[in-house]
Amino acid sequence: MEELRQKYIAAIAEAADEGALEALRVQAVGKKGEVSLKMRELGKMSPEERQVAGPALNALKDEINSALAAKKTALADVALEARLRDEWLDVTLPARPVRRGTIHPISQVTDEVTAIFADMGFAVAEGPQVEDDWHNFDALNIPGHHPARAEMDTFYMARAEGDTRPPHVLRTHTSPVQIRSMMKHGAPIRIVCPGRVYRCDYDQTHTPMFHQVEGLAIGKDISMANLKWVLEEFFTAFFGTEVRTRFRASHFPFTEPSAEVDIQCSWEGGTVKVGEGDDWLEVLGSGMIHPKVLTAGNIDPVAWQGFAFGIGIDRLAMLKYGIPDLRAFFDSDLRWLRHYGFAALDVPTVHGGLSR
Ligand code: PHE
Repeated sequence: MEELRQKYIAAIAEAADEGALEALRVQAVGKKGEVSLKMRELGKMSPEERQVAGPALNALKDEINSALAAKKTALADVALEARLRDEWLDVTLPARPVRRGTIHPISQVTDEVTAIFADMGFAVAEGPQVEDDWHNFDALNIPGHHPARAEMDTFYMARAEGDTRPPHVLRTHTSPVQIRSMMKHGAPIRIVCPGRVYRCDYDQTHTPMFHQVEGLAIGKDISMANLKWVLEEFFTAFFGTEVRTRFRASHFPFTEPSAEVDIQCSWEGGTVKVGEGDDWLEVLGSGMIHPKVLTAGNIDPVAWQGFAFGIGIDRLAMLKYGIPDLRAFFDSDLRWLRHYGFAALDVPTVHGGLSR
């Protein structure tokens, strides 16, 4: 019996897997196993012998059974450990190096511009790029015969056959958003509207699609002085240096009086530098909102007045980041985008600094 005990306890301890363990179980305590056969022999023994051998055999059977169970658990533990080791995954590992995309300078500058105006209390408004004739022209005091319509090189949308209404247009400026915002929110109001605009034009400084940001402020006592302060505040924040402005009398149908605004710059060494020197660069159109425009926007021109301006975003981006050709903005050349693009997480804020 002692021989059997040592043989099986040792074999069980060495079993490599569950299959080997099961074979040992059958061999020792299965129906025809060695221990079971010994138990059958109990019948041939004298009662005295049986009294000693019976409990001893039962104890041996129990011992082997518990050794089998313990080994089974141990094998399962080892298998689990191995799995945990093999299937381990470090979720904190950085991803494989992927070539990161960049933020287009136009998007970056749009974010910079809206961040600066938001800081001065301007909300951001939007309007459709396919605009109707009334919002793009009539409501802005540009009637059908007005030369401004021809000057703008408008893209007209195709009309359904038999439709006699004026065709929709690709908006030629962001000014129609003035009307939409007035009608939606009434006065007082302070908004900027960045977006795409379209004119049929193409050379080094013109592309058929470009970007403007419209500004609009209406209140009880808003004057040209407020306009000048807001614009100088804006340019100084945008270029990160004190920028002087020059207001030149001009004409827009939707403002009266109207002014074109130049910013101070130098052309020394063939490159333009904003905020120094004594040359001037035209960057925007502006003025006091024409009473007819307020009326079109359902705002009483006797009670309210305000200013509006429209800045070319692309021009601002070229000036600030030294980009010489406007057309390159829209070529989608990856080398250009990597060179002039911005890191995706470099989100411009006024307090955190604009873009580095
Ligand atoms: N809409 C004008 C343009 O596209 C700019 C402008 C906006 C002028 C607002 C005056 C007031 O050129």
